Amino acid sequence: MACETLIVETHGAVGLIRLNRPQALNALNSTVLAELRQAYSAFHADDAIGAIVLTGSEKAFAAGADIKEMQPLDFADVYMGDFIGGWDEIARARKPVIAAVSGFALGGGCELAMMCDFIIAADTAKFGQPEITLGVIPGMGGSQRLTRAVGKAKAMDMVLTGRMMDAAEAERSGLVSRIVPADKLVDEALATAAKIASLSRPSVLMAKEAVNRALETTLEEGLRFERRLFHSLFATEDQKEGMAAFIEKRKPVFKNR
Ligand code: CAA
Repeated sequence: MACETLIVETHGAVGLIRLNRPQALNALNSTVLAELRQAYSAFHADDAIGAIVLTGSEKAFAAGADIKEMQPLDFADVYMGDFIGGWDEIARARKPVIAAVSGFALGGGCELAMMCDFIIAADTAKFGQPEITLGVIPGMGGSQRLTRAVGKAKAMDMVLTGRMMDAAEAERSGLVSRIVPADKLVDEALATAAKIASLSRPSVLMAKEAVNRALETTLEEGLRFERRLFHSLFATEDQKEGMAAFIEKRKPVFKNR
């Protein structure tokens, strides 16, 4: 896929997408969104791909929505055009997506990282929602996903002051799953994604659905949802194979069926 703002590669069963607008610290403009939607859609249509890694550069995962693109817009432009509404499609990806974050993940950059299933951070990562300093507020989910990730106190602190969190604070707060040295970031994320891609696809997709449901429903409904998904996996060949392989002390051969 030829892209202006992304570098798209496959590494075995893993799709790797690098945001690539170095001149703007990977600021997210409408071209980035259009190309990201295309890349996601191609990886979702490709049965050989089991997981996706989304990363940026060493200096910036992404420094936010593109301020130069937004500055001249007025209310009618953004409301009638559903400005940035298209990012919801990125958040609805069915296959697992890992954000590998080095450097700045600010505003829409932090929000994009939070749309992924989990974040692996380089020790150089910095997260923030600085929209308030521009006279607006987060618009791609920051006030909602950050609050669910780190709780009200830290989310209010970040969203009201625009201050940044370093990688250690982000890990302590539950925003990132782990921190790795910056020079190992993409390799670690690719290895993690490869592990996920090697597992039974139906169980991986359902595991993702089940965890996401925890953020959207009551405990009782969530437990019922989980139990039904668990039951349904007994209709797959991979459940028979996975359990037989354990008993026979061998590696399972999953068919994703
Ligand atoms: N949009 C457009 N361009 C951006 C940008 C952004 N979000 N962030 C950085 N750039 C551009 C700069 O304008 C600069 O371009 P020029 O060389 O043409 O001037 C280039 O990237 C390099 O940036 P800096 O010179 O500022 O680099 P720095 O190392 O001195 O500072 C930074 C880095 C602290 C990240 C700083 O660039 C910065 O504060 N960026 C803006 C962060 C921000 O406010 N993000 C929120 C955007 S609003 C949003 O995202 C809304 C939403 O929720 C949907």
